[in-house]
Amino acid sequence: MKPIEIAKGIYNVGAVDWNIRDFHGYSTNAGTTYNAFLIIDEKIVLIDTVKKEFADQMLDNISQIVDPKKIDIVISNHTEMDHSGGLPRVMHRIGEDKPLYCSKMGLKNLSRHFPQKWNYHAVENGEGLSLGKRTLTFLETRMLHWPDSMFTYLKEDKILFSSDGFGQHYAGPEKFDDEIGDAIMPHAKKYFANILLLYSTKVLKLVETVMELGLEFDMICPDHGIIWRKDPGKIIEAYVKWSKQEPEKKALVVYDTMWHSTEAMAESIAEGIAEEGVEVKPMHLRKWNRSDIMTEVIDAKAIIVGSPTLNNQLFPTVADMLTYMKGLKPKNKIGAAFGSYGWSGESVKLINKELEVMKFDIIDPGIKIQYVPDKKGKDACFELGRKIGKAINGIDD
Ligand code: FEO
Repeated sequence: MKPIEIAKGIYNVGAVDWNIRDFHGYSTNAGTTYNAFLIIDEKIVLIDTVKKEFADQMLDNISQIVDPKKIDIVISNHTEMDHSGGLPRVMHRIGEDKPLYCSKMGLKNLSRHFPQKWNYHAVENGEGLSLGKRTLTFLETRMLHWPDSMFTYLKEDKILFSSDGFGQHYAGPEKFDDEIGDAIMPHAKKYFANILLLYSTKVLKLVETVMELGLEFDMICPDHGIIWRKDPGKIIEAYVKWSKQEPEKKALVVYDTMWHSTEAMAESIAEGIAEEGVEVKPMHLRKWNRSDIMTEVIDAKAIIVGSPTLNNQLFPTVADMLTYMKGLKPKNKIGAAFGSYGWSGESVKLINKELEVMKFDIIDPGIKIQYVPDKKGKDACFELGRKIGKAINGIDD
């Protein structure tokens, strides 16, 4: 990526990772970007860096604008290594004694990642920094995405540098929201579902605080994906909607299968749900990545989980999905379990236990069927589907 001037004297000097397909378990089918921002003022500032492997590319981008040695200040909005991995190369190049601004937790966390004794300056929430003609303000945003996370706001240009917030794992020819339009929203939704869903309450609180402070945004610059400049309000509204986890009339039937018996049950349940006029999506766990399933979970009202019993346990992909989903803390869901078994049949009980931990409303004890579902078994699954569909429609059974 060549440096892109996003506003007068402000550049995205980050890198595009076209080929990444697995970001710590999140399927990044469209690649991603690591955005880093250079502000040329009386003081020259670099906000965030890139993954270690892209550090030289970023320094090359900076060199096309200014000698990196002229950078006066580095700001680290977030310690995770997709944004801090380039710090050792950058600090070495610009001068190890240059001030490195971060949050208080940033200081602790960066120190745990890097042995170098950099010239850290831990900022207070709301602290300002004059660059000459422009002023930066630091906003603590703990847990969005790590305890160290903060946003940096550029008052004069009304630009928010939002770290992971409002980001998307997307690499493409488009660099701004007006260039890609609504096609970016599924990527933003997936990012929220897999990275920020468990911090929904904090997202809502943050939006409230920003409203109270009366901050205005002409541009929101996340560290991943496109920059929001045409309509920054759109992604803020979407974050509020996703944070509230208001469900739609939609159900997911998430399952795995060994000899197609649990799959046949999934299909009958899905048919029963559809019979009630509810949108339903059967999702086979070896055909769908867990991160794509989580994206669907956000606005589904019911999550129905199916697993064969394998060696007295859940099928491994089902255990994986339940563990992953539990960590992301989806709310306001109806749940139910089903599965085929040979001789012991623990899967339904084990799934229900996990759904209970997630505080799902378990509307049925679930169905387990020995070996292969016959007509009676499939009919029972269909009726379970209808029961779920009615519950989603708000009709008592
Ligand atoms: Fe893009 Fe939490 O790092």
